[in-house]
Amino acid sequence: MTQTLTIRRPDDWHLHLRDGAMLQAVLPETTRHFGRAIVMPNLVPPVVTGADAAAYRARIDAAMPEGAPFEPLMMLYLTEETDGADVVAAHKAGIITAVKLYPAGATTNSASGVRDMAKVRPVLEAMAEAGVPLCCHGEVTDAEIDIFDREAVFIDRVLEPLRRDVPELKVIMEHVTTRDAVDYVQTADRNLAATITTHHLIINRNHILVGGIKPHYYCLPVAKREEHRKALMAAATSGDARFFLGTDSAPHTDPNKEQACGCAGVFSATNTMSCLAHVFEDAGALDKLEAFTSLNGPAYYGLPVNEGTITLTKGDPVAYPDKLMTGEGPVTLFDPGFPLLWHVEA
Ligand code: DOR
Ligand code: ZN
Repeated sequence: MTQTLTIRRPDDWHLHLRDGAMLQAVLPETTRHFGRAIVMPNLVPPVVTGADAAAYRARIDAAMPEGAPFEPLMMLYLTEETDGADVVAAHKAGIITAVKLYPAGATTNSASGVRDMAKVRPVLEAMAEAGVPLCCHGEVTDAEIDIFDREAVFIDRVLEPLRRDVPELKVIMEHVTTRDAVDYVQTADRNLAATITTHHLIINRNHILVGGIKPHYYCLPVAKREEHRKALMAAATSGDARFFLGTDSAPHTDPNKEQACGCAGVFSATNTMSCLAHVFEDAGALDKLEAFTSLNGPAYYGLPVNEGTITLTKGDPVAYPDKLMTGEGPVTLFDPGFPLLWHVEA
């Protein structure tokens, strides 16, 4: 039985670092194990221009733990006013790695997102031409669509038409939560990949709702039925290069989670690699962990894999704290519901 596993230093292709005191507190939780992360732009106000991204990058650099071998990969928040020339220039200058599509109203701070895809078509065409990838929050927001169906409907109504109309655009369907999305991504021979979060590999919707409501398991897209979780597990552990890790680690303080209208987001940066080693081992797929966390993402983005490595060793339960204390208040860590035996040495 494998007790020790050394893999290339992993990357997180979907991460919320926030700003200010929260950024200060959560950044080391990611830099400890990860080499790079795509940093989500849904700040208030959002990161919409190349200048915004450069300024946010400077704030992240200022908060960086001494000597951390970590590179934040910046992205822009697509709005109906986004200037394609600014996007392409920021990409060319190495300021940004990708652009994010939030359908307006889909999730936290998405009010400035896109209502009418036709309005952003020229920007998407410019991105396709310049090789700038588009990361999609893949949920429609129509009030009449059931929240558990919003991802599947997004594929039919937004993603498929987009890929047909702009076939050269490199697309990432983020935090997929359904068998429908897994099947759809598997039909694409190019220009489509998906990220999967740690928590969606571990929880289904029962974890949120059975035996009392669990606000710390509430995120968007919301976790689905067990059959969907199984489809995600199969995709993540298959070695298929179209699937890679994006934790969507999204810190909110406990008061903001534990209330009548709690925020969406699971904070998993701290214990993600221990959680993943556990579920990959359970699936008999520890040999596929490196592809999922460290190889498939850079291959899709056309980036080199990280130079460094991390070593995972199985032993006594790791003593992760229940909460991360931040200047804004406590943030509860993702509880996988099983003891974490895999220690991470970076
Ligand atoms: O659960 C989520 N939290 N999903 C998102 O899409 C956004 C994120 C956040 O920013 O809190
Ligand atoms: Zn997110």
